Amino acid sequence: MMAAPGRRRITLLPAILVLSLFLPWIASAASAVLGIDLGTEYIKAALVKPGIPLEIVLTKDSKRKEVSAVAFKPVRDAQKTDSFPERIYGSDAVALAARFPNDVYPNLRPLLGQLVKQSSLVEEYRKTHPALDLVEYGDRGTVAFRSAAFQKEEEPFTVEELLAMELQNIRTNAEALAGKTSKIEDVVITVPAFYTADELRAIEVASELAGLNILGLISNGLAVGVNYATSRTFPSVTESGKAEYHLIYDMGAGSTSATVLQFQGKTIKDKGKQNKTVQEVSVLGTGYDRLLGGDALNAIIVDQMVNEFVKTPAAQKQSVAHESVRTHGRAAAKLWKEAERARQVLSANSETMASFEGLYDDIDFRYKLTRANFEELAGEFADRVEPAVKQALKAANLSMADLDSVILHGGATRTPFVQAQLEKVLGGAGKIRTNVNGDEAAVFGAAFKGAGLSTSFRVKEIQTRDGTPYSVGLQWMIDEKGSDPVRF
Ligand SMILES: Nc1ncnc2c1ncn2[C@@H]1O[C@H](COP(=O)(O)OP(=O)(O)OP(=O)(O)O)[C@@H](O)[C@H]1O
Ligand SMILES: [Mg+2]
Repeated sequence: MMAAPGRRRITLLPAILVLSLFLPWIASAASAVLGIDLGTEYIKAALVKPGIPLEIVLTKDSKRKEVSAVAFKPVRDAQKTDSFPERIYGSDAVALAARFPNDVYPNLRPLLGQLVKQSSLVEEYRKTHPALDLVEYGDRGTVAFRSAAFQKEEEPFTVEELLAMELQNIRTNAEALAGKTSKIEDVVITVPAFYTADELRAIEVASELAGLNILGLISNGLAVGVNYATSRTFPSVTESGKAEYHLIYDMGAGSTSATVLQFQGKTIKDKGKQNKTVQEVSVLGTGYDRLLGGDALNAIIVDQMVNEFVKTPAAQKQSVAHESVRTHGRAAAKLWKEAERARQVLSANSETMASFEGLYDDIDFRYKLTRANFEELAGEFADRVEPAVKQALKAANLSMADLDSVILHGGATRTPFVQAQLEKVLGGAGKIRTNVNGDEAAVFGAAFKGAGLSTSFRVKEIQTRDGTPYSVGLQWMIDEKGSDPVRF
């Protein structure tokens, strides 16, 4: 029998107040720390600063997360003048995708540290963003983009440079929250547990370019765990308490990961003769699927939309080919946006409609998708929900019965078939926790970790152990014949 899940330390007080008790600042030398959850589709940031215990950094238009995108808005006569295109960020950038499909760069994270010639992630990105001019960067062979908005002789922008621009924007937003005189440099950034050295290096390069100083990188699952631990006390194993085990299941836009975490208290000797109890959060095992997430689900809807479109009488009359629509920048951008919307609508409704004016060759298109249709299309994706859980448990040397709970994180865990599949795997919904903030737990955890690493704050002591020596994962690639993902 496992111990009961961690009790909340002070249940009645709002979390912010609880945290503020742990974050007294050391008067003068204190500086701010930023936690960044660097997602494929969204970047979330949370600030810790004297006077600001822990607060989400709002975007320019007061949203709690920034769409991970940058765009270059062309100036007139771009080829002739010296003036630079305007840089646009976030949802404003994505909103330009239908007008300037070849100068809006969204969802770049999967491209970090990849070699153009060898990466199935790059292949997939090219397919879903046909209008972008993705090139190999010099001898390095990594990803860069040539922008149409700039003069022809301009060097292509590396994916690290584009990400740095996004990070700079986040930094500007954070400085607006922190106040005019504040300069923000110190950050803790979340990274997937499966990241390779090259991918981690790319994050470091982008941060350096943005003038940020990385205090630490933390895996997504561990960050959620740290946040979970901030307001709880776990049984002390030095006083014969039993550790708790929770699994974080995170499905975002780009990927899915499962992380088995161990939570426990430990009584140790403090300075002098006194004992103190610290909380410990350790990663015991991870599993993942690098291509399972909202983006992959969007791609199957887009594919289906194009199938339907080419069958319409108007498209048939002009012999429109599937490939021409899918690779048409403007049409692809519109379809992608619509697929994203449709999927979210279908999480709460049983059907959704979309209509496009002049989707391709001036042909209008109306489209209806039911949840049942969608689930049929996504059939094999349902089978891909479980493996990450199994791999994480195997690496942790634990079984399903050892888990006290499963904590959901990431927007795509709201997809009904994903939840249904998890319930099936776990033998019922009993262990699934829904009281954890599935969008912001990781960024709060990262910021809390940042406050702990910075010398400017004194925070509740939570020791963390990241790293996954036995991590196992699945990789998927697209087979040569078409769209069926195969395991390799
Ligand atoms: N209600 C919903 N139903 C289904 N999917 C949703 C819903 N809300 C958000 N999503 C999806 O969640 C994804 C974004 O989630 P999240 O912000 O966790 O991703 P991310 O952190 O940017 O990506 P990743 O962690 O994979 O790098 C998108 O694909 C979005 O469509
Ligand atoms: Mg994420």
